[in-house]
Amino acid sequence: MVNFHILTLFPDMVMQGLHTSILGRAVARGDISIEAVNIRDFTTNKHGRVDDYTYGGGAGMLMQAQPVYDAYQSVIDRIGQDKPRRVIYVTPQGQPFHQETAKALSKEEELIFLCGHYEGIDERVLEEIVTDEISLGDYVLTGGELAAMVMVDAIARLVPGVLHNGESAETESFGDGLLEYPQYSRPEIWHGKRVPGILLSGDHAKVDAWRQEQALARTKERRPDLYEKYMEK
Ligand code: ADE
Repeated sequence: MVNFHILTLFPDMVMQGLHTSILGRAVARGDISIEAVNIRDFTTNKHGRVDDYTYGGGAGMLMQAQPVYDAYQSVIDRIGQDKPRRVIYVTPQGQPFHQETAKALSKEEELIFLCGHYEGIDERVLEEIVTDEISLGDYVLTGGELAAMVMVDAIARLVPGVLHNGESAETESFGDGLLEYPQYSRPEIWHGKRVPGILLSGDHAKVDAWRQEQALARTKERRPDLYEKYMEK
């Protein structure tokens, strides 16, 4: 069971995106919980502002410390001051997000994601509350929401119970460091292309060996970096 808390200026975006399909069912069953906390609800500014100019000049606005901190405190008040938690600021300045990151985070109980907007967030509140800064990749999004949603999805599917077929999380791409082998469904011949005969043989050992071979060949061709790493293990 993981409780996800997402601090954001766009709660609807996050809630809509994360309550569909597999994650929606996992929430309904109680295998995970997902809440979005609207940072704007916590501003003490009478015009509802959450951003201001940056000291030192430069283009763009910065999210201020006060509303971010108070939104965070509202979560802490509910989960309990002493409850172990990770507070993840999603930012291109962070450590890259990998399957290993998802695996480690799926073992936590309380994950708080902080989504930035504009030019970012006042450094002082980050220093006080954030335990991990994580990036989705080396590109810049308009805000942290999509990055947080991707991370929540990748973490949630590793939480026990979320995927019913317990095996699938481990045998697919990256579970063992290799890309996935090709797969086929009916019909046996489509557009003149036949399903590889070995898959129809009923010989499970042979099928497994073929799949492993395909996974290796694919990884070597498409992701030589992953192949090298796998062969070193
Ligand atoms: N916010 C904007 N760009 C991002 C990225 N690449 N990863 C995480 N958060 C972000």
